[in-house]
Amino acid sequence: MIVLPEKAIILVGFMGTGKSTVAERLAAELGWRKLDLDQAIEDDQGCSIPELFSSRGEAYFRQVETDVLKRTLEESREVVVATGGGAVLAEANREAMLASGTVVALTASVETILDRVQNDPNRPLLKGNAAESVPQLLEARKHAYDFAHLRIDTTNRSVDEIVRLILDGAGNSGTTA
Ligand code: S3P
Repeated sequence: MIVLPEKAIILVGFMGTGKSTVAERLAAELGWRKLDLDQAIEDDQGCSIPELFSSRGEAYFRQVETDVLKRTLEESREVVVATGGGAVLAEANREAMLASGTVVALTASVETILDRVQNDPNRPLLKGNAAESVPQLLEARKHAYDFAHLRIDTTNRSVDEIVRLILDGAGNSGTTA
């Protein structure tokens, strides 16, 4: 039986684990809205994430991320939220997510992540050298996504399969697939 959550579905996970792509398909499947937190931050600030990092710095970005996430979750019915990879770092953000719906952590192998992010200039934390920075950041964040209700490995899985696993698992806290 498929159990739908009452409120929001919030996707967390490292860069390149497929949050935006999965959120898009999951929202379409449910007939819900999709909200991309990075996009909402760009709209709020009127500039791109790399511009925000270089003009105001990471601490400012994190404050805006917390504010925009809080606002987003206040109107959080029937919405699939794709968060940025670092949105889980602040405890207040984790608490807000857990209180607002089902939190799903997407994971992927380091090789898969590198394949997906290697030549992407839009991720300031990778600073153009993903092969070095991805393994370091993954190590630093190895427990950062453990608070999620569900955990799904996206390596070698189709988007449809991942969506199905989320829908099947949405009522079963603590599931890993
Ligand atoms: C970040 C991930 C990015 C974006 C910003 C910081 C992070 O989002 O929010 O560059 O700290 O992991 P994606 O996970 O969508 O790349």
